[in-house]
Amino acid sequence: MPDPAGRRLATRAAHAGVRGPMPDFIPTVVPIHPSVSYMYEDISDLDGVIAGAREGYVYARYGNPTVHALEEAVAALEDGEAAQAFSSGMAAIHAALLAVGARAGSAIVAAQDVYGGTYALLDQVLRTQGVSVRFLDASDLQAVKVACGELSPVAVLVETVSNPLLKVADLPALADAAHNSGAVLIVDNTFATPYLVRPLALGADVVVHSGTKYLGGHGDVLAGVVVTSAELQADLHEVLKVTGANLGPQEAWLVLRGLRTLTLRVRRQCENGLSIARWLVDHPKVARVMYPGLPSHPQHELAGALFGERGYGGMISFELAGAGQEGVFRFFGALRLCLPATTLGDVCTLVLYPAHSSHRAVSSGERARIGIGDGLVRMSVGIEAVEDLVDDLAQALSVV
Ligand SMILES: Cc1ncc(COP(=O)(O)O)c(C=O)c1O
Repeated sequence: MPDPAGRRLATRAAHAGVRGPMPDFIPTVVPIHPSVSYMYEDISDLDGVIAGAREGYVYARYGNPTVHALEEAVAALEDGEAAQAFSSGMAAIHAALLAVGARAGSAIVAAQDVYGGTYALLDQVLRTQGVSVRFLDASDLQAVKVACGELSPVAVLVETVSNPLLKVADLPALADAAHNSGAVLIVDNTFATPYLVRPLALGADVVVHSGTKYLGGHGDVLAGVVVTSAELQADLHEVLKVTGANLGPQEAWLVLRGLRTLTLRVRRQCENGLSIARWLVDHPKVARVMYPGLPSHPQHELAGALFGERGYGGMISFELAGAGQEGVFRFFGALRLCLPATTLGDVCTLVLYPAHSSHRAVSSGERARIGIGDGLVRMSVGIEAVEDLVDDLAQALSVV
């Protein structure tokens, strides 16, 4: 059909079909909006959005409708007022720390066995920028109180269930300790997920997630989310606008898709996790099993009070008796179903060697001090039939 306005081919190629049909239908699933910029029938509306006088979108680094849908969903799941999505869990943690006031002269108190990337961010980036950081065993409440009293930190940072030692944080008590010294409590809820516990309801001020893990749930997207008050989210938004660690709309859509089955997946992962942890305890080649659902876990009672009626999570850590890196690698090499992969929270069961991946950035002396031994294996249990997982573990353990 000839162009009614008589436009030339180059013009038609640049404009034809780009904005699609004017919809008189409502999609049942949020669309992926790739557009970088947004326009309005009336230019004064664009001016109003830029000025913050009305809601809307202007430019993708400032906000995107698909990403916003994810932010609303995660805020709803975490019982938070608002959320801000980021390109990765690390970007989310970094922005959360900046937004609560981490800058030269300030202090942060953090659990010593946080994820290795978080440890490195605090130890190698923020420390060199003049932030004083104290790492401690966050299950020692007295130590947390003393550190808060001495340092008056801007934030106390813990993981609900720590990576990889699976220590459980006493969130209400930690919130009290932080608040008594004027600090905010930031909780990385990646391992627990809002299915097990919602830290904001227990006194935390900020929840961070690596959306790459259980929220996305399928190992195919990198994402991060911070959930907090509307006031602090506005500060996070300012940080994001100038640092640019934005989540893309395709990625946001994948995480949103994952969220729809979060409760089904995590419930199954908890069931499988408990069965496998109980099986590992009795295995002669396994020296120690860390799983909050086992009575031998040091915070088993606390875990029961915080989330036990829903389960104890899909993460298990265990030590191969007398094994070092070579023995662990032989075990990994023998696995046929469980995948040796450096992530977690996937529908597939994954194993990881913390000493060479998640905690590689932590010195071997420091790893030994905090209890990450050379025979330690971290396992993220998937949704497979648990009998098949046990068969695979049994045949691989037989070669160690
Ligand atoms: C508990 C925890 N928090 C944060 C992160 C960082 O997330 P991302 O890899 O999405 O940056 C990870 C990554 O493994 C993690 O395990």
